[in-house]
Amino acid sequence: MFCRRAVLILMSGGLCACGFGRAGQAGAQPKVSNYDEARVPKYELPDALLTQSGQRVSDASTWQNVRRPELLRLFEENEYGRTPDISTRPTFKLRSTDPQALNGRATRKQVTVYLTGSPDGPSMELLLYVPNGASAPVPAFLGLNFGGNQAVANDPDIAISDRWMRKNPKAGVVVDNRATEASRGSAASRWQVEKVIGHGYALATVYYGDLEPDFAEGWKQGVRAALSPQGASTVFAPDAWGAIGAWAWGLSRALDYLEQDPGIDARHVALIGHSRLGKTALWAGAQDPRFAIVISNDSGEGGAALARRQFGERIENLVTSFPHWFCLNYRRYAGHEDQLPIDQHELIALIAPRPVYVASATEDRWADPRGEFLSALAADPVYRLFGLVGLGVDQMPPPDHPVGDLIGYHLRTGKHDVTAYDWDQYLRFADRHFKHAADSKPD
Ligand code: GCU
Repeated sequence: MFCRRAVLILMSGGLCACGFGRAGQAGAQPKVSNYDEARVPKYELPDALLTQSGQRVSDASTWQNVRRPELLRLFEENEYGRTPDISTRPTFKLRSTDPQALNGRATRKQVTVYLTGSPDGPSMELLLYVPNGASAPVPAFLGLNFGGNQAVANDPDIAISDRWMRKNPKAGVVVDNRATEASRGSAASRWQVEKVIGHGYALATVYYGDLEPDFAEGWKQGVRAALSPQGASTVFAPDAWGAIGAWAWGLSRALDYLEQDPGIDARHVALIGHSRLGKTALWAGAQDPRFAIVISNDSGEGGAALARRQFGERIENLVTSFPHWFCLNYRRYAGHEDQLPIDQHELIALIAPRPVYVASATEDRWADPRGEFLSALAADPVYRLFGLVGLGVDQMPPPDHPVGDLIGYHLRTGKHDVTAYDWDQYLRFADRHFKHAADSKPD
């Protein structure tokens, strides 16, 4: 038996999900983190089906017209911040096309997205693989990546990102905060390009640092400054968007591109994100109903995991180590999660009635797998309003037993990561919900 103390680990031990090292840029955290189920205090979740004025929501139309907009506003005000209204439309410049990529199995495109429509404004680089031989536009997976587009596949023709990049534990991959040749394919296991293409899906990705470099002052070089009249002198309001908001906005601009690419069936785009980018995918999917499926891979605190459950990472850790991710108001809830007018099950519910998938990993205790499962479970009643089955189970499944209908869930054996096993589940989930016709698959 463990001594109880042995499971109270110093908070500085939060593993970094993106594979770039430990969590905190700010060094050791002041408190201890709880990893003992028996020490999770009781908590009460806000009722997703009760409006702020006390009205019970018992039909889909009251959800869509009253409760959903109210919750969206509460998430803006208290957690992720408001995304500004940006009236300009992006424009696109095709940089290269290779119809014989991946040994002839796919067409690879590299596209510059001018985010405000102007070559003088902010831009991002989109990498797209489309399976060859499809008889109709194909559905796609879209996600932001951590290490630059060239890290996603072993493909020598992908342009290496020249933007600021976080350090990488693998020697030589990032030098002086820039990616090197050695970074090519370094995240290939997380993207499984061949598998995705082989299933008849396109894969689109963008380096998240194109939108905002991921450090406290990074916003000055990103879209939050570029889109503000005050530029790098902007003083953020307590409910102004944070980096997660900026990254999420970029995902919607990537979808703008996919909507006008004739090879893509943009009504069937599954958004995927891992870790901080899983938090981002959920927020993007909550705001932009064009995303047909949303997948949160190991997103943890500030993502799928319930904030009120005191296990693993807490709001205090997030706002200390990553002060730029959320709006300033979120800091109020460090140590006061019970005062949040929302909890993360309601973020998942904002995606209803669209399919959503939450995945955890057994060794990823920092992200609180049980808290992720319970959050998915608590979103279930909202799917029922639509006459749909959400999770369809009420007990956490054992490792490697995927469950769920409109809300998918699995607990993979292993570490905080995205693996071939995870992709197998996402492809099956997308096949099921997109009713992906065999005849639109490549030969
Ligand atoms: C840290 C952070 C997590 C986050 C993860 C990531 O571990 O504490 O909240 O999900 O980094 O790499 O994105």
